[in-house]
Amino acid sequence: MDLDAKSAVVTGGASGLGLSVVKKLQAKGAKVVVADVQRGSNDLGGAEFVECDVTSHEAMQKAIDAAVAQGPLSAMVCCAGIGTANKIVGRDAPQSLEDFNRVLQVNLLGSFNGLRLAAWAMKDNEPDEDGQRGVIVLTASIAAFEGQVGQVAYSASKGGIVGMVLPAARELAKRGVRVAAIAPGIFDTPMLAKVPENVRQELAKGVPFPKRLGKPEEFASMVGTIMDNTMINGITLRLDGALRMV
Ligand SMILES: NC(=O)c1ccc[n+]([C@@H]2O[C@H](COP(=O)([O-])OP(=O)(O)OC[C@H]3O[C@@H](n4cnc5c(N)ncnc54)[C@H](O)[C@@H]3O)[C@@H](O)[C@H]2O)c1
Repeated sequence: MDLDAKSAVVTGGASGLGLSVVKKLQAKGAKVVVADVQRGSNDLGGAEFVECDVTSHEAMQKAIDAAVAQGPLSAMVCCAGIGTANKIVGRDAPQSLEDFNRVLQVNLLGSFNGLRLAAWAMKDNEPDEDGQRGVIVLTASIAAFEGQVGQVAYSASKGGIVGMVLPAARELAKRGVRVAAIAPGIFDTPMLAKVPENVRQELAKGVPFPKRLGKPEEFASMVGTIMDNTMINGITLRLDGALRMV
């Protein structure tokens, strides 16, 4: 998908993996809107910032409208996400429904919100020579397949994203819109910075090769490949250095 003079929305684009995607899409010529709950202090490279909680219809529509004002919306990359670590059987009480629901809302419903409103905006785009009108990339996690103790809500939310990809790609095929997801292993971002350094080192050691955490640019590079390669559709691509969490 040629993104030159087209527009794109990146949810969660103010930090981590999303921020790296913003730069990648800009390098491909796209006008990028960052849809995030916080602006943060990172350099957004001239991308427009729209304050957006991904669980809100109105806020997501506002971000998409801001992108469309700059060119046809041709890429939507949903990176916004949160993680919690809570056991089902906690020390004093069962895991709260509020905790489970919040993670599902942001990670799963938020991704669906971006997917549905982007698809609606893309459906009337002028198709390219391959019939493409847009590309939507969602962010899952290897926790969708190998969730750890404490990750029931997070894994459920990411598993839901994996489950959405194929039916979404099938439906949107006739609209010329591709849908794919990336399931990262362990990437060095502010989300992971909350984990103590010794634990980070242990996590890195567990990766067969390369024995390190992933770099956000490597995630962005995969997004770039999905944009470039029209045959990638309806799939969740693992990006994990062969890591299989045990
Ligand atoms: N870092 C990893 O190792 C890793 C591994 C697997 C999956 N992921 C996934 O990658 C995505 C990006 O994570 P990251 O590591 O870059 O984390 P990050 O914390 O650096 O970035 C997440 C961004 O999402 C934003 N956000 C949070 N809630 C939001 C909401 N309700 N509406 C809009 N924006 C919201 C945050 O403000 C932040 O800018 C997440 O979906 C995460 O689950 C990360």
